[in-house]
Amino acid sequence: GTTLAAAANLTGRWFGTAVAANKLADPVYAGILNREFDVVTPENEMKLDATEPRQGEFHFTNADRIVDHALARGARVRGHTLLWHAGLPGWLQGLSGAALRQAMLNHVTGVVTHYRGRVHSWDVVNEAFADGTSGRRRDSSFQRTGDDWIEAAFRTARAADPGAKLCYNDYNTESWAHAKTQAVHRMVQDFRARGVPIDCVGLQSHFGSGNPVPADFRTTLRNFADLGVDVQITELDVEGSGQAQADGYRRVVRDCLAVPRCAGITVWGIRDTDSWRASGTPLLFDGRGEEKPAYHAVRSAL
Ligand code: XIL
Repeated sequence: GTTLAAAANLTGRWFGTAVAANKLADPVYAGILNREFDVVTPENEMKLDATEPRQGEFHFTNADRIVDHALARGARVRGHTLLWHAGLPGWLQGLSGAALRQAMLNHVTGVVTHYRGRVHSWDVVNEAFADGTSGRRRDSSFQRTGDDWIEAAFRTARAADPGAKLCYNDYNTESWAHAKTQAVHRMVQDFRARGVPIDCVGLQSHFGSGNPVPADFRTTLRNFADLGVDVQITELDVEGSGQAQADGYRRVVRDCLAVPRCAGITVWGIRDTDSWRASGTPLLFDGRGEEKPAYHAVRSAL
């Protein structure tokens, strides 16, 4: 393949990136986007504070720009994210109990209905598990409405768009040895056993020197796939530079290709200057939009 997407397509996979609506007018940015990627994830535009800034008042202008741009050129959209403990507007922070549960499900219905038929996969719930070894849920306002909040969200999303794949997405779930990974695995196993609709697990995959690509990443991908769900690498970036960085990216690609249900890879931004990470050069293109060694490593590994 002559582009990331074309190379990924050779094995039936896709290759995506996070996109910011306010950069679509940048010709260098849009040029790379249109050439290299066949899946896009709005970086912030679908989050709760962006789509429902006041209770019951939905705002889709910025997310629509990304979705329209993607669909017009035949790319697909990962919806990110319906429910997350971060990025909550003030009105929602003031709710609890039954009122919060109702508002939460109303949000899921409102957003998924607006994008019905246009979003390929939804990150229905993002980052609901605690770090560390407890294997517990993260303390959040949603969690305080009851342990069943995640399955309620998935059932509501399925009802609003039966054609969209529904994912659970998290970070620090890349190593199988990590207690958090196994806790998420147990939840997905339980959902599958009880018929709670879930189709995919997203592994964010933000890697760097303090958090290298784990040696057992492939085991994690396999173990989730064995539950009958797709796995998606959803927010990949690798701190570093040169060949060391290229090696990290190459290992991620090889691990995905080794698992038939690893459906695709999304990087969290296009150029180093587009990255959310505070410092460094974690992406595939430099600030001028030139291909880095990591880009060539990915393309040739696909
Ligand atoms: C980040 C965005 O990249 C930033 O622009 C924003 O300020 C904060 O959120 N995990 C996620 C993403 O699931 O939504 C986060 O995106 C990065 C970490």
